[in-house]
Amino acid sequence: MKTYPFSNGDQIPALGLGTWKSEPGEVYKAIRTAISLGYRHIDCAYIYQNESEIGAALSDAIMTGEVNREELWITSKLWNTHHRKNDVKECLNMTLEALQLDYLDLYLIHWPVAHQKDVIFPQEGKQLVSLNEIPLEDTWAGMEEVHDSGLVRHIGVSNFSAKKIAKVNESASKKIEVNQVELHPLLQQKDLLDFCKKEEIILTAYSPLGSRDRIPQMKAQDEPDLFEIPTIKAIAENHNCSPAQVLIAWAVNRDTVVIPKSTNEARLKQNLEAAEISLSLEEMEQIGQLDRKYRYVTGAFFALPGSDYTLTNLWDE
Ligand code: A2P
Repeated sequence: MKTYPFSNGDQIPALGLGTWKSEPGEVYKAIRTAISLGYRHIDCAYIYQNESEIGAALSDAIMTGEVNREELWITSKLWNTHHRKNDVKECLNMTLEALQLDYLDLYLIHWPVAHQKDVIFPQEGKQLVSLNEIPLEDTWAGMEEVHDSGLVRHIGVSNFSAKKIAKVNESASKKIEVNQVELHPLLQQKDLLDFCKKEEIILTAYSPLGSRDRIPQMKAQDEPDLFEIPTIKAIAENHNCSPAQVLIAWAVNRDTVVIPKSTNEARLKQNLEAAEISLSLEEMEQIGQLDRKYRYVTGAFFALPGSDYTLTNLWDE
């Protein structure tokens, strides 16, 4: 498995298992299966509401001696309810307890969006808190604290634009090490990738397969199907592999981390194997032509009237 180094020498595996939408009741088995297949990187988040079941699976896999903690790379994310500097540790502790871990390899600010503390998911604008009131720099200072205390080995962000990263880094004593964003051939974010390379920030691709299992309220009516794109299908045929594997291989071949979600054994295996597929320069260029800045996860659920958040200031584009 390809890995990417951090400045302290730690290595993050290029492929991790996504757990957003992995249902309680099936995620335990998915994690145990993934680990037995050879997955060593699991991507979690407080808001996915499945961390305690993931924790049970991790604990059992470690207890049976199948894997040890040091071999695993576990990421989780701070929810928007805990953006105040002194709240970061509280959210992290809930995650650590659920995951039955005493440290995380990586902790990310999930969104550049703050909520009232008792509002898990906002329904109206007043339940959101302006970034003028809780600046991202304050949240980052809380992230630096949990890093300094040894509870997390690396810290980063998710859904951040280059502009927001640059602003946070200006006053940071520890710089952002990872940014996790939506990335796939229809949303290639080349400028952000170049910016992150220059700043030595690792970029992680979420929804690399188009997240077809999102709830209907989160889906547009005529969403494009990544598996049906003729270029992707043709490359898959060339390699005698599936379109999903081409999408994963593309992400790894362009030096991003990628975290496809699956709870199905055959697809877990297929996705892990995809990280070893080498695409030719010509194939990479063909896929490079497919960009159309299409977001599956639009962030519209945060752009509520009566709040400071708009799609323009969320993505800075
Ligand atoms: P399942 O969990 O049943 O395998 P994303 O990672 O972009 O969020 O996409 C996840 C969706 O893609 C889920 O519906 C998942 O279903 C499906 N999926 C995961 N791996 C594959 C694969 N190799 N082929 C087809 N669909 C896949």
